[in-house]
Amino acid sequence: MKIRMDQLISSIGTALDAVEGELLGATTNHGRRIAILSAAMARHCGYDEDSVSSIASCALLHDNALSEYILSEKPGKDQAINLVTHCMFGQRNVQVLPFRTGIDGYVKYHHERADGRGPFGKKEGEFPEEVAIIAIADAVDARDRLQFYPAAELDALRERIGRHTGSRYTRQAAAAMLAVLDEAMLQSLRDDIVFDTFAAHMPVWEVDLTDRAIMGITGITAKIIDYKSEFTRNHSVQISNISWLMAERYGFSEEDCAKMYLAAALHDLGKLKVPVEILEKLGKLTAEEFAIIKKHPRWTYEMLENIDGFEKINHIASNHHEKLDGSGYARGLGAAELDLPMRMMTCASIRR
Ligand SMILES: [Fe+2]
Ligand SMILES: [Fe+2]
Ligand SMILES: [Fe+2]
Repeated sequence: MKIRMDQLISSIGTALDAVEGELLGATTNHGRRIAILSAAMARHCGYDEDSVSSIASCALLHDNALSEYILSEKPGKDQAINLVTHCMFGQRNVQVLPFRTGIDGYVKYHHERADGRGPFGKKEGEFPEEVAIIAIADAVDARDRLQFYPAAELDALRERIGRHTGSRYTRQAAAAMLAVLDEAMLQSLRDDIVFDTFAAHMPVWEVDLTDRAIMGITGITAKIIDYKSEFTRNHSVQISNISWLMAERYGFSEEDCAKMYLAAALHDLGKLKVPVEILEKLGKLTAEEFAIIKKHPRWTYEMLENIDGFEKINHIASNHHEKLDGSGYARGLGAAELDLPMRMMTCASIRR
């Protein structure tokens, strides 16, 4: 079985966007925009398509460890983010994905500056140019909110990039940014078309469903999902393990065991859209709060529905709160619609 990693990480990007929106009040699709800009800049600089894929993927996932960091330190919304921590953990988390090139430092150094005043104190030339591309896209989009940026003020933006070249931005990255950031690019970053733009810019990244790919996907998604809340910590990995063992016990093929394992890793992806106060509330949930919780399987479904060849895995993942008598959620399916893998996932996910 082949998996479209570019589409899968796009889903992870959507999930991360929900976390970032909640924790930082960040604008939507930030990661997606910097992935697009990074892909365009990397091509401009002459990187091959495998490298473009790695650079853009790391750009999409550059802040994957925000939820992890926030959980360990619990800062308020207005507190500065500890840059070092999320850079280090973010690098460690993406490292497990089955990239076709090396990605050393691509996430770790995304807040470095050419003048060495970034979190790790590296100067231009001391961190990879690949991450300098991600860094400039990140900084410009974070500051100027490119999805709303008026085309009439593009010259001012370009002038500011020029002014910070050699201090904030490396020369090669700044030149690449100036080359790709024209009016058409700006238009294509708007929220209503940014998904199409992303699909057009990302190289197809197809992998066999090998152990390495499975462990990579599970590794990063479990981190992101589980670190959202102490209540779900390690939940995804445990459920993956149980699902694999159950599938083996029932005589599933190796590939079907892998599907169960992946479905388990992803089953609570939609929980990233549930506010953390609700997930962690001690006491009884109000009817409104429970209504929000009950949406998470549907959100899981929506996050996974655009991955080619993933339909089966998505159904197993997103029906894990359905019950035989139709009293489950979010769809209220009954026994006739719930096949064995779905029923197994429900049982596995009940265990905490
Ligand atoms: Fe960051
Ligand atoms: Fe960012
Ligand atoms: Fe769930």
